[in-house]
Amino acid sequence: MRSLRVLHGSQPKLARFFRSSRIGLSLVPFKLADIGEGILKVDVLQVFVKEGDVVQEFDKLCEVQSDKATVEITSKVSGKIQKLYVQKGASANVGSVIADIVVEGDVHGAVHSTPATQSAPSTPAASGQPASSRPVNGKVLATPATRRIAIENNVDLSQVTPTGKGGRTMKEDVIRYLEGGPVTAAPAPVVASTPTPSTPVVAKVAATTAYGVVAKVDRTVAITGIRKAMVKAMTEANKIPSFGASDEIELSNLMRLRGEMKPLFEARDKNLKLSFMPFFLKAASLALLQFPELNAYTNDDCTELLVKGSHNIGFAMDTPMGLVVPNVKNVESKSIFDIAKDLQELMAKGARSGFSPSDLQGGTFTISNIGSIGATYTKPVIFAPQVAIGAIGRMQKVPRFDAKDNVIKAHIINVSWCADHRVVDGATMVRFNNLFKTYVEQPAMMLMDSK
Ligand code: COA
Repeated sequence: MRSLRVLHGSQPKLARFFRSSRIGLSLVPFKLADIGEGILKVDVLQVFVKEGDVVQEFDKLCEVQSDKATVEITSKVSGKIQKLYVQKGASANVGSVIADIVVEGDVHGAVHSTPATQSAPSTPAASGQPASSRPVNGKVLATPATRRIAIENNVDLSQVTPTGKGGRTMKEDVIRYLEGGPVTAAPAPVVASTPTPSTPVVAKVAATTAYGVVAKVDRTVAITGIRKAMVKAMTEANKIPSFGASDEIELSNLMRLRGEMKPLFEARDKNLKLSFMPFFLKAASLALLQFPELNAYTNDDCTELLVKGSHNIGFAMDTPMGLVVPNVKNVESKSIFDIAKDLQELMAKGARSGFSPSDLQGGTFTISNIGSIGATYTKPVIFAPQVAIGAIGRMQKVPRFDAKDNVIKAHIINVSWCADHRVVDGATMVRFNNLFKTYVEQPAMMLMDSK
């Protein structure tokens, strides 16, 4: 049996474990190195391991934050976490032991995490790293992490200009080299690893950055799924010459009415939540009855306007998948209760990503209410081939004058409209806005006009 070397304090329990082991093991105290810039203490944001876990070199141990940066500390050794000294939410001193790690073989002294900042590393004395320089024999000095990045990207380290202390090649030097930066000594010999769209260099570097530390660096994210659909729809929409108009709408009456209706709704269906949206959709539909050319599609060359008979009113929904625009069908023939039910059902489908194609197809006009998330003012983009869209911002309590010039507390939302200016003129859009506003500000009129 090979010898056991315990390097950090007395560990009788561990010694017993080692005595029963047939391989040479060492206990390595893994220390939080000097992260530079005079930082002596950091907050522990997350701990990714627990005692007893087996970690590989480069596995994340914890994430720490100073007032200058947030960095992930990764292991410099492969082994088993014998003891953890850091806790989420606690603070840790630079130089203190993060974990005792049991490793195979004889390891001398403590191991230090690597400085997390992008600036020059801490001094060798502070970090426990050996002093470094590029020796005359031409051997490149670099940390294992730098070497690993180089290997993964087929970079010959001797071709990279070092900027580290004593001629040490830093990970930044390799990244700069890969990006063709100015410090590069020779043309990039990365032919064999020419990045494909699915394995971009930046993403690769981000995944395997500094030894002991995964820094927050640039990364490339593929645009897929709903986002990809959004790229297509919005690029098309942006080609449309559009017209915008915005207004303030006072919600006090609607708030009162909603307050009265809420218990009535709950009495009929205890799971039904009445928000402002059913009223906005109904008000839009009632106004569209007077301005049917806004509930319409255009063809590509704008030679025809297809005025739609049904008011299938779409609403933007923020879902775990991203932005989705389902629509409530036939709003023109539905009560506020029916609309609220349909909305709630669609929202439930959105939460579990369970839309059917028909939920998302056939919209004829769109209203987006971003106000529950925030933003006072909005600038919606047309959802082609529809010709108009509205967006509502966050309600604010603000002072306004009433009809008798008294200052009152008003509940204001800002609504913004955007219309395809090739087929809709500004006056039509603004007249529609005026009617929509009337319905929302005087909701009793909605009852008057609802069929
Ligand atoms: N200002 C302030 N508060 C608002 C508001 C507004 N404009 N609109 C809604 N609220 C309130 C609601 O009244 C509710 O509060 P309450 O529970 O006290 O009554 C709360 O915000 C949450 O409402 P929510 O559950 O979201 O229901 P909703 O019917 O108002 O909205 C959606 C439904 C689907 C529109 C909404 O959930 C959503 O996803 N909005 C984001 C739309 C979006 O991403 N648009 C951007 C497109 S680019």
